[in-house]
Amino acid sequence: MQRTLSIIKPDATSRNLTGSINARFEDAGLRIVAQKRLCLTKALAEKFYEVHKEKAFYDSLCEYMSSAPIVVQVLFGNDAVAKNRVIMGATNPADAEIGTLRRDFGQNIERNAVHGSDSPENAEIEIGFFFSQMEIVE
Ligand code: CMP
Repeated sequence: MQRTLSIIKPDATSRNLTGSINARFEDAGLRIVAQKRLCLTKALAEKFYEVHKEKAFYDSLCEYMSSAPIVVQVLFGNDAVAKNRVIMGATNPADAEIGTLRRDFGQNIERNAVHGSDSPENAEIEIGFFFSQMEIVE
């Protein structure tokens, strides 16, 4: 069993898609063991996405991620990191397979509905960024 961090991004929360997205996780056998809705400051978005700070899209991404509420969540289950990446689909909704979250709900490569950790190691770092152990109930 494994945990992964998921973020429902501003484009999705603002279109009231949180419940529809959560249903996809639960239908695929992942359990939502922690969840909260919050607004990132630009400084916090910059810290979270620090690994991308040399990229051309970094400033726009951080501006966007702090523009409206997000929902951060911990997903728990068998092979949760890889499973969530299949559920999400490719980063660019135009390249994502039909039936994936990004294809069905994403608008463009930046406004792509959801974020998910890319490895179990990064999952633990990203979970620690948003949650204390007390807030995670498996
Ligand atoms: P995410 O999984 O949150 O990880 C980094 C984010 O940067 C990514 O989803 C996209 O929202 C964004 N991103 C990645 N590549 C690009 C790009 N080429 N142009 C704009 N935004 C991008």
